[in-house]
Amino acid sequence: MSAPDTFALRGKIALVAGASRGIGEAIAHILARHGAHVIAASRKVEACETVAAAIRAAGGSAEARTCHIGDMDSIGATFDWLKQAHGRLDILVNNGATNVYYGPIQDTDLAAYQKTMDVNVRGYFFMSAAAVKLMATHGGGAIVNVASINAVVPGALQGVYSVTKAAVVGMTKSFARECAPLGVRVNALLPGLTRTKLAGALLEGATGEKWAAHIPMARPAEPDEMAGAVLYLVSGAASYTTGISLNVDGGFLVS
Ligand SMILES: NC(=O)c1ccc[n+]([C@@H]2O[C@H](COP(=O)([O-])OP(=O)(O)OC[C@H]3O[C@@H](n4cnc5c(N)ncnc54)[C@H](OP(=O)(O)O)[C@@H]3O)[C@@H](O)[C@H]2O)c1
Repeated sequence: MSAPDTFALRGKIALVAGASRGIGEAIAHILARHGAHVIAASRKVEACETVAAAIRAAGGSAEARTCHIGDMDSIGATFDWLKQAHGRLDILVNNGATNVYYGPIQDTDLAAYQKTMDVNVRGYFFMSAAAVKLMATHGGGAIVNVASINAVVPGALQGVYSVTKAAVVGMTKSFARECAPLGVRVNALLPGLTRTKLAGALLEGATGEKWAAHIPMARPAEPDEMAGAVLYLVSGAASYTTGISLNVDGGFLVS
């Protein structure tokens, strides 16, 4: 039996939701470096255009789109455009997420709860549902949901965010099970503490030092250190892999 063409993504259309900075930006770059045409999407299209321009300047293929995954109309518009502009989708990375409330779980107010759920759970769910339908029209594709180690070990004072990340792991398994017959593989990435804007509050001051003490590798990750795992999961190298959660956490979850 011949080995799959391991990491080549030439001819693939890849939508990276939450590509304007941080981990999503690094994912957009690595997919483009391996030959995919990348659609860099988030709420701020100018920031996505900067990412797409950098990809093009490096010899890759990319464009930018507005997509607010907390807004069902925006999800619908993204997929209407995608069908018209490209007629297909091979790769979806659900990466953009929100963490608006740091505090005791019992004090979570409804607005913070709702926003976190709408983006991190409803957004991933309906982006995936729309992607599966489009992928199924041409033989399948691959979805990666960026969850978090908080799905396994809830972060202190990050209750609702941790709940959403656990939901993403469950969602990944449900989509993986039902969509395998359609040729769609669905996997989750569980990043550990990574140096980005989202993790800014955790990395600063005493809280950051406390986290570092629990990471066997004794440092946070850089965004680029998450990107290779996503490349693996969407590529031919992972052709028999679906429904998994891949921890990339400097050993946090075994400590
Ligand atoms: N950094 C960490 O330590 C860490 C650890 C575990 C898991 N994660 C996960 O990794 C993923 C990326 O986070 P990051 O650390 O790279 O954060 P980041 O640097 O703050 O980037 C977040 C990205 O999400 C986009 N985004 C936010 N809300 C969105 C929405 N409603 N619709 C579309 N895009 C939206 C942002 O773009 P716009 O503002 O332009 O919309 C941005 O591109 C998230 O799922 C996060 O939960 C991060």
